[in-house]
Amino acid sequence: MAKKSSTYVCQNCGATYSRWEGKCTSCGEWNSIVEEISKNDGFSKINGKKEGHVIDFVPLKGSTQTYSRILSGIKEIDRVTGGGLVPGSVILVGGDPGIGKSTLLLQVCAGLASRDDKYSCYYISGEEAIDQVRIRAERLGLADRPVNLASATDVRNIITTLEKTEAQVVIIDSIQTMYLDEVESTPGSVGQVRACAYELIKLAKRKGFVLFLVGHVTKQGEIAGPRVLEHMVDTVLYFEGERGHHFRILRAVKNRYGATDEIGVFEMQDKGLVEVENPSALFLAERQGNISGSCVFAGIEGSRPLLVEIQALVSPSGYSTPKRAVVGWDSNRLSMVLAVLEARCGINFSTHDVYLNIAGGLKITEPAADLAVAMAVISSLTNKPLPADMVVFGEIGLSGEIRAVSQKNLRLKEAQKLGFASAITPPAFGKDKKDNGKSYDLSCYEIGNVHRLINWFN
Ligand code: TYD
Ligand code: MG
Repeated sequence: MAKKSSTYVCQNCGATYSRWEGKCTSCGEWNSIVEEISKNDGFSKINGKKEGHVIDFVPLKGSTQTYSRILSGIKEIDRVTGGGLVPGSVILVGGDPGIGKSTLLLQVCAGLASRDDKYSCYYISGEEAIDQVRIRAERLGLADRPVNLASATDVRNIITTLEKTEAQVVIIDSIQTMYLDEVESTPGSVGQVRACAYELIKLAKRKGFVLFLVGHVTKQGEIAGPRVLEHMVDTVLYFEGERGHHFRILRAVKNRYGATDEIGVFEMQDKGLVEVENPSALFLAERQGNISGSCVFAGIEGSRPLLVEIQALVSPSGYSTPKRAVVGWDSNRLSMVLAVLEARCGINFSTHDVYLNIAGGLKITEPAADLAVAMAVISSLTNKPLPADMVVFGEIGLSGEIRAVSQKNLRLKEAQKLGFASAITPPAFGKDKKDNGKSYDLSCYEIGNVHRLINWFN
């Protein structure tokens, strides 16, 4: 019989220790280390002198299998997965509780199950009872779709059952509720999550079905459980959104079968998630014209242009250290932009609080937003509104120079499509210089340095 061995595993980062410790030296978390006993010690066979097989090597060139992707029928899902679902691939979907993961996946599998080329879809819920899923399906108008539904948490039973089916799409909601009885720790612990995911992924690869795993996120916004879970799967998608807003963003952070910077935009309505064809129009819908501190940023998310409103509020500070608060952008980046404006334009923010918000609950990571942030901040400080029909983009360097950003034409074309008439952009550079002005009809003001921004507000 295999020897029982115990290890101590940090439930936050997955680091292992030979004895219990109060603080994880790897991630710095306190009281996160828990004993895990496992019977199937992976090293025992190697120690037990059992010889392995000889593996075959092959040349790099050879016949490769082309993936016949399954189109989900939801364009935004196909976009983030890189053009459809690849049979045998494993997709981890993470997100805050209540954001809509179960709703989205139920819609995906109901859609696939009811198509002409009927996919056999299995939805296994470990969190909700059958009735709860049925009520949701009823609400979504999907109750009559031929989805195979089960409420189960024992991975051994799930595997035995799926083994006997011709499943093509399987949804496990969520991986934190699953357990394997040979791992002696509670469901949701690092050991259980890892072991259950490992067994399910092995089955998905062997049987060639698309496996969706729903994963919870921690307070820090990462998928709970070991980081290895993200390494084990082919695709990691995060479903994000602010509670008060109805937009939801599905973001690919890892994808072995496509690009990782793609996003899908959805709107949560009373009949489930609806794809948003034109996200820019949606994000700008509530914009009020002629207000200081508001600037429209022409951004790019993946392969798609996206216009969003950046709002800044600069107000006299009552604190000795002025406050900086940011929603939807990197706060270090804001500090950098403010420092550059102070040093290169002589604008003083040291007696002012600065609040920055990306309207609509979107999170922006592009440095190209620097210039739009700078414009919004100066506009608020001087209380002078920017033209309502103007978009802005450009990266700001430490010496105050405005740097060129990618996809200038695409950004401007989108702005034009939405009725914008002018743009502040970095100077044309490289390829942009050649095809400058060909595909759009906007008045472009090229600015090379931040000190020229001040002219806009005089
Ligand atoms: P859910 O899919 O259960 O979230 P998760 O699986 O990520 O925890 O979504 C639940 C939320 O979505 C709940 O707050 C209600 C809302 N919702 C709608 O607004 N419209 C709908 O049609 C459905 C089904 C849910
Ligand atoms: Mg759920």
